[in-house]
Amino acid sequence: MYTQSMSVPDEAGSRTVQPLALSEPAERMARFDACIDADGRIEPQDWMPEAYRKTLVRQISQHAHSEIVGMLPEGNWISRAPSLKRKAILLAKVQDEGGHGLYLYSAAETLGTSRDQMLDALHSGRAKYSSIFNYPTLNWADVGVVGWLVDGAAIMNQVPLCRCSYGPYARAMVRVCKEESFHQRQGYEALLVMMRGTQAQRDMVQDAVNRWWWKCLAMFGPPDSDSPNSGQGMRWGIKRVSNDDLRQQFVDATVPQAKVLGVSLPDPLLKWNEERQHHDYGPIDWDEFWNTVNGNGPCNKERLATRVKAHQDGAWVREAALAHARKQEQRRMKEAA
Ligand code: 3HC
Repeated sequence: MYTQSMSVPDEAGSRTVQPLALSEPAERMARFDACIDADGRIEPQDWMPEAYRKTLVRQISQHAHSEIVGMLPEGNWISRAPSLKRKAILLAKVQDEGGHGLYLYSAAETLGTSRDQMLDALHSGRAKYSSIFNYPTLNWADVGVVGWLVDGAAIMNQVPLCRCSYGPYARAMVRVCKEESFHQRQGYEALLVMMRGTQAQRDMVQDAVNRWWWKCLAMFGPPDSDSPNSGQGMRWGIKRVSNDDLRQQFVDATVPQAKVLGVSLPDPLLKWNEERQHHDYGPIDWDEFWNTVNGNGPCNKERLATRVKAHQDGAWVREAALAHARKQEQRRMKEAA
């Protein structure tokens, strides 16, 4: 299965690149470009063009928000998991997603944007997060399908980010991808068990696949021809593979998995193209995608309200942690005096 073959070349990022010293703007820019051209890594202390910094903050914060909003559709099912084993797995998975958000907020902080600023943008509706988390998880089969397809699509998109030109983002992605691999496999295994169950269970799985398939294809972002950020993102080595190429890889990897599972994918145009050595697939409903991205999907308002409430309810924890840190610091100063 493709999630087991995540390979991050050892040499990625280990190539020695001279630190970017302070110098004239043109010279700094030339050194930055040379570093990118040599497939080197940019680190927080290095000089970088403002547009590079901005692009990274945009993408990493969108990604971080996706991880923490992504906790919600499955979090709904923790108290209703069908067995202790499934509950323990789901708890671990949802907790992992929270951890991914934290690594990513930390990576964005190295670019000079605070977590408070990013959360404020999320809570006020200015920041984007993945379209996929604005759809409901209606029953237990949805939890399995989210693991199999949503996490599967996320891994496909995120493995190339382990080679991103910005060091802290690339390093965060290595661990994220390993954990996502477990997420994908637990979802697939839960579905395999359901498919060996009753006809009603098999029908639930098929129904969930029918509802999630097209949304997962849209998750990779607009077609390359309509993707305003792709060109520059690829030039800078932030994105390594285009939206359409990743989507194609996902389709090609998923078709045989669906066969083993015993479900059909809801696309009459899906078929192997011998000439291209890829599967052809039908048109994606981009109007629905943009409608959802722009805040009008079935669960956008509910997701945002839940996030805002969780943040407000957690205020006392943040205040207590800060008070404790202040106390520790005062004690340390007293002892040092
Ligand atoms: N949902 C919401 N917005 C999306 C989107 C999606 N599925 N796909 C694209 N967009 C947005 C982009 O953010 C961009 O908006 P902006 O300019 O305001 O930021 C706009 O649509 C145009 O898209 P582009 O293709 O030009 O944008 P990018 O070059 O940034 O590519 C991307 C989009 C492929 C999502 C890229 O940002 C990316 O790889 N991000 C990192 C990975 C990520 O964020 N994944 C989200 C899912 S994480 C997840 O699923 C959690 C896991 O636990 C399951």
